[in-house]
Amino acid sequence: MSSAAEAPVVQTRRDGDVLVVSINNPPVNALGQAVRAGLLAAIEQADADAAVRAVLIVGEGKAFIAGADIREFGKPAVPPSLPEVCNRLEASNKIVVAAIHGPALGGGLEVAMSAHYRLALPAAKLGLPEVNLGLLPGAGGTQRAPRLMGVQAAAELMLSGKHLSAKAAQAAGLVDKLVEGNDALAAGLAYANELLAQNARPRRTRDIAIATTEETRAAALAELDALAAETAKKSRGLFSPLKIIECARAAVELPFDQGLARERALFTECLNSPQRAGLVHAFFAERETAKIPEAKAAAPRHFAKIAVIGGGTMGAGITVSALDAGLAVTMIERDAESIARGQANVEKVYNGLIAKGRMTEEAKAAIMARYTPSTSYDSIADVDLVIEAVFEDLEVKKAVFKELDRVCKSGAVLATNTSYLDIDAIAAATSRPQDVIGLHFFSPANIMKLLEIVVPAKVAPDVVTTAFELAKKMKKVPVRAGVCDGFIGNRILAVYKQAADYIMEDGASPYEIDEAVRAFGYPMGPFQVTDLAGGDIGWATRKRRAATRDPKARYVEVADRVCENGWFGQKTGRGFYLYPQGARVGQADPEVLAIVDAERARKGVVPRKFTADEIMRRYMAAMVNEGAKVLEEGIALRPLDIDVTFLSGYGFPRWRGGPMKWADMAGLPKVLADIEEFAKEDALFWKPAPLLQKLVAEGKDFDSLNKA
Ligand code: 3HC
Ligand code: NAI
Repeated sequence: MSSAAEAPVVQTRRDGDVLVVSINNPPVNALGQAVRAGLLAAIEQADADAAVRAVLIVGEGKAFIAGADIREFGKPAVPPSLPEVCNRLEASNKIVVAAIHGPALGGGLEVAMSAHYRLALPAAKLGLPEVNLGLLPGAGGTQRAPRLMGVQAAAELMLSGKHLSAKAAQAAGLVDKLVEGNDALAAGLAYANELLAQNARPRRTRDIAIATTEETRAAALAELDALAAETAKKSRGLFSPLKIIECARAAVELPFDQGLARERALFTECLNSPQRAGLVHAFFAERETAKIPEAKAAAPRHFAKIAVIGGGTMGAGITVSALDAGLAVTMIERDAESIARGQANVEKVYNGLIAKGRMTEEAKAAIMARYTPSTSYDSIADVDLVIEAVFEDLEVKKAVFKELDRVCKSGAVLATNTSYLDIDAIAAATSRPQDVIGLHFFSPANIMKLLEIVVPAKVAPDVVTTAFELAKKMKKVPVRAGVCDGFIGNRILAVYKQAADYIMEDGASPYEIDEAVRAFGYPMGPFQVTDLAGGDIGWATRKRRAATRDPKARYVEVADRVCENGWFGQKTGRGFYLYPQGARVGQADPEVLAIVDAERARKGVVPRKFTADEIMRRYMAAMVNEGAKVLEEGIALRPLDIDVTFLSGYGFPRWRGGPMKWADMAGLPKVLADIEEFAKEDALFWKPAPLLQKLVAEGKDFDSLNKA
């Protein structure tokens, strides 16, 4: 009995003198065990058959081979290994040709580099992106790439994880021949037969000599030293980049087989590192967030023309994002002056690209032709989707939505970019709450990847799927969130920010806290972020919430004191830090420390010392505990949605996988024990989330909820 599902993932067939080996392992022809075994068997079949003179490797579907099967990492290895397969391919006594028509990444490129000749079609993408997963090319890539493209270029390819186009790959020496079209099989067969007609011989990458003289060897090693110094600075705590350079060094210094052995040892170290686990989690989590309950039920609505209401910081960024996605955008502002400012905000982004030589005036003009400025709501009667980005004020937003309700055509999607406000209340201002949704972009909206898609109670499922479709068009990372104060990200941020304030009042300086957070892997600490965003924004929120704050809750007033001085951060030249003469990097401010001391004294707090570890235990415990509450309330669908929110929107170090993955790796019992210990000082703030207690009691982790 056979069915399509059981069809072998590697099939062979003869075409004249050529054995065609085609890989058919959807969706991306990853090199799982069956594919590795199939490739090995195919090459043995070719070598054993005197009638076969050449082997052609092609991938079915969109990809050539996207690499090792990432799902197998961390599980027991099952032979044959990929290095073994690659070595066997390269050793073949028949000529081996790879015809690449799509992604040839990681192990996929390693297979291609083990072939004797490489052909690429225009849609080919070649790269060694293992570094993005905390790894290094582990099937000979670190030894073969330097032989084909030179040591420095290979090291740079492996360190950047970049994909090369077919043309760039040929220029770099990775590809022998380019052919137009998309028929890899026909092009590959023609090339293989052409090679046979020329009596071409097997040509093994391993035999290419690199750095043969003392001078070239010394020069290559010096280049690697320079790259290592630069990488140590840039890669901030990442493990695999420096190991990649060690492998490249081995390619220069050692014979091929010893280089391979070195690569294997270092690959195994990377594979076993917690960073690999964090980065692989991030890879899959980012692909899971689009899998939402509404996806099966409702196809997205059509949209091509959109409107953005408000041309301030966010409105302009959203407009750029939409224009870049090929949409037509009408921007609405209050008056002529504001719309002129809104348009200038948009043009500033493109002018910046022109100044850097990354865009031409003509390209800008073509984009701006899809942009229409207006001060009249009546001009958006025919748009398919609206994104509101006016002031963060419920009454102002309700008035805008009333206008939208009046002018927009039936079925138009009406979205708000509010950061905190109640979207159910905004929807209730219209006669069509089924069309109202939250689209929470992050600043700068044309750059930041995260898009929280906030789903109010009455919204129709096809509006939710439309929002996900928009995210895809804009190349954003979408996360589905429920309505609450701050949704997923800002709600959790508010809590760990509070923890940071408590730590400050209890004894650590804001500078020590920022340093500990940076050492953990964040690009900036919380007080630096406040200074960058503007302290006045948080101050306004705190004032708004003052009336509803639990009087029993501890409230730290240091930030209010700082703001009362007009110290709002970078834009005012000082905040928690000093920014003399517009400096971007702040300096510690003794006057801020004096405010902190005065506040401690006023509250009778005797300051104590905190190590960086003690700071981070509290910071992370606050984040994870609130994350568990967000899950319990259904604000986030799965722990991975929280992880992706923090990875894409809040600078959480990607190699730690996100806060919930971090908690799993730290061990939930340990995190809960910390919370219980801190609760002895402040039971209200450190109230353990029941979900966290339940998981610990059942011996489970957050990841078990991702799979449920
Ligand atoms: N292993 C297992 N699954 C993979 C995979 C891989 N290498 N690459 C992609 N997938 C899966 C995705 O998880 C997704 O699954 P889903 O549909 O169930 O969510 C599906 O394939 C499609 O992937 P994308 O949504 O990313 O599709 P795109 O068309 O946008 O992108 C791609 C295709 C460019 C191939 C992209 O998936 C990609 O970059 N993949 C990873 C490539 C990579 O990192 N390769 C190196 C692996 S490590 C290695 O090879 C080690 C070796 O040196 C020993
Ligand atoms: P902003 O003050 O820079 O811009 C608001 C714009 O809206 C102004 O240009 C104003 O003229 C215009 N506007 C006000 N009322 C209007 C009306 N009735 N019709 C048309 N235009 C009107 O504010 P910003 O920062 O762009 O914020 C906008 C929204 O985005 C707010 O809801 C905010 O909470 C949210 N947001 C802001 C982020 C940020 O970092 N700035 C991040 C994510 C969301």
